[in-house]
Amino acid sequence: MAGRIPQHFIDDLLARVNIIDVLDGRVQKLKRTGKNYSGLCPFHKEKTPSFTANQEKQFYYCFGCGAGGNALGFVMDYENLSFPEAVEELAKVAGMEVPREDSPQQREKDLQLKKIYDLLERASQFYEAQLRDHENRADAVNYLKSRGLTGQAAKAFNIGFAPSGWDNLINLLSNNEQDLNLLEEAGMVIHNEERDSRYDRFRNRIMFPIRDQRGRVIAFGGRVLGDDKPKYLNSPETPTFHKSRELYGLYEARKHSNNLERLIIVEGYMDVVGLAQYDIHYAVATLGTATTAQHLERLFKMVPEVIFCFDGDNAGREAAIRALKTTLPVIEDGKEARFLFLPEGEDPDSLVRKEGKSDFTERLDNALPLSEFFFKSYSEHADLNSMDGRARFSTEVLPAINSMKPSLLQQMMLDRICELTNLSLEQIQTTVNFHQAVTSTEKTIDHSFSQPEAVSAKDQYDSYSDYDSYPAEYSEQYQELPSSNSKHWSTRDNKSKNTEYSFAEKITALLLHYPQLAGDLNMPSGLEQTNEPGIQLLLQLVAYYKNSPQATLGQLAVDWREDPELSATIIQLYEISTSLEIHSENDARNYLNDAQNGLLEKALTSEISILQKKTQLGPEDKLRLVQKIQQLHQFKQAKKK
Ligand code: GTP
Ligand code: MN
Repeated sequence: MAGRIPQHFIDDLLARVNIIDVLDGRVQKLKRTGKNYSGLCPFHKEKTPSFTANQEKQFYYCFGCGAGGNALGFVMDYENLSFPEAVEELAKVAGMEVPREDSPQQREKDLQLKKIYDLLERASQFYEAQLRDHENRADAVNYLKSRGLTGQAAKAFNIGFAPSGWDNLINLLSNNEQDLNLLEEAGMVIHNEERDSRYDRFRNRIMFPIRDQRGRVIAFGGRVLGDDKPKYLNSPETPTFHKSRELYGLYEARKHSNNLERLIIVEGYMDVVGLAQYDIHYAVATLGTATTAQHLERLFKMVPEVIFCFDGDNAGREAAIRALKTTLPVIEDGKEARFLFLPEGEDPDSLVRKEGKSDFTERLDNALPLSEFFFKSYSEHADLNSMDGRARFSTEVLPAINSMKPSLLQQMMLDRICELTNLSLEQIQTTVNFHQAVTSTEKTIDHSFSQPEAVSAKDQYDSYSDYDSYPAEYSEQYQELPSSNSKHWSTRDNKSKNTEYSFAEKITALLLHYPQLAGDLNMPSGLEQTNEPGIQLLLQLVAYYKNSPQATLGQLAVDWREDPELSATIIQLYEISTSLEIHSENDARNYLNDAQNGLLEKALTSEISILQKKTQLGPEDKLRLVQKIQQLHQFKQAKKK
């Protein structure tokens, strides 16, 4: 085992390496901008640079995603390396040899670890032998037979039997206090501190040794012989065992074939063993935790295809959503993740016994590709025909897709979102920003797609409910949609795409996309009195942008958040613009011009009719009326040309 890397060497290395050289070639469009360098951030997808680096401080930071650190951190994240690996990598470039510190403490620690591995291997051999030799072995053997397990399959996984009794392992493997401590550290012995007694952790159980990639036994899972609870007992976290990293059956799968093409992730020990018995030697199981990004990264280094296997029930579906969220940031072009749902009440072990290898393999071959499962599950609750439905859908889906590495798959999924929502990417992005701004001050949904932490099988299912609560929370929020007699949305509330919108509504919608045009807008007087639908909101919006010409849509949302009706109306109007076929600022300008003329005509007509209805016209009124009639005439003449 390699010793520690001395700190002084790391300091030396960082002093010698220039972060800009490290970024060069890894950060696209890296160029000097004044004191800093800027470029396209490699850690999230972007079109305009928000990644900056400072040579003097030897530091980088991305304003887009918040990634930041020194050269070592960058190499770790970019190349997906551990700390010592990143040090090696940088040292190679700098032409330096990495020294290792072999402190006496480190040597002692390595020795302890070696002893623990040794104990675990001997424990495994002991359990395996008990399944052959122990006087009560019939109980265990009969149980395994009743499950349909062959001796051969049991042997391939070194399945064993921990007999009843409190100190079988203790008597076998420890001669003194020191050994006992080691057994405890290995997770095989439990220490009752109150009574200062120690006893074997695993008693009267079928034993599944868990191996690391090199085949060393690192932990055990133990199953009761019947229906008692808890059904499984696993080793605790120990110096050799980290649940969130390890996968049961991976060593055995690789041992069976060093040319694996795919791997299946199942839930249980028995699933791995059962599948192998039916000649499907490429299943691995998480150890009572959800699949982690670490798991997936490891698997994708070995095979191009990973298939998740889930029960067909609700819990399975929820687990699948969770796995999906974990997979998105990990998946790359050339790698494939798929999702298989089994019939309700079956697990892979029971199903393969029922229908055999070829039917089960056919299911695997037909498993849903990630993108299909993604859109299936996200559009399930979405009403893509309604305006807020599409906005809501985008708000859920876009952060998920943004969590992906830049890839062809990501691009294809983005295209698909545009297709489904009938919105351009820019429109979707603005909608999402807008929604988040509107909701950020309220108690909202967790949009983060962070990697889930390891949780127990039971906790796992409890925490899955977050997905189901998603739509419910949203619908609450959307109950505030204005009704048809709302003051802002005066005439119609459920407009179909073909509905004619009023000029005021169209202008409002346009301004939401192009607030910079608000300054050019000339609002004719007398508009307040017209019956133009949406005119009040437009006037409010124009006044707002006159005061805050730089305000973004998000800012507007924050400023208007006190008025949920206003916010909801804004969202609706925002959606209108998609039916206007405006693709550029120039289009918008032209459109605005036309709409403004329409408004002017309305304002004139309205004022004329108000004046005409007056019974008593003073001299000023008369003059105004003549002026307005003249204006309207000129206006109509101009329009004819
Ligand atoms: P069988 O019921 O024997 O078919 O086992 P299984 O491997 O099919 O297990 P199941 O699908 O019920 O559970 C999947 C996995 O969750 C197991 O392999 C264990 O890793 C874990 N698990 C299940 N029950 C328990 C439990 O009671 N305690 C702990 N710690 N883990 C459990
Ligand atoms: Mn099972």
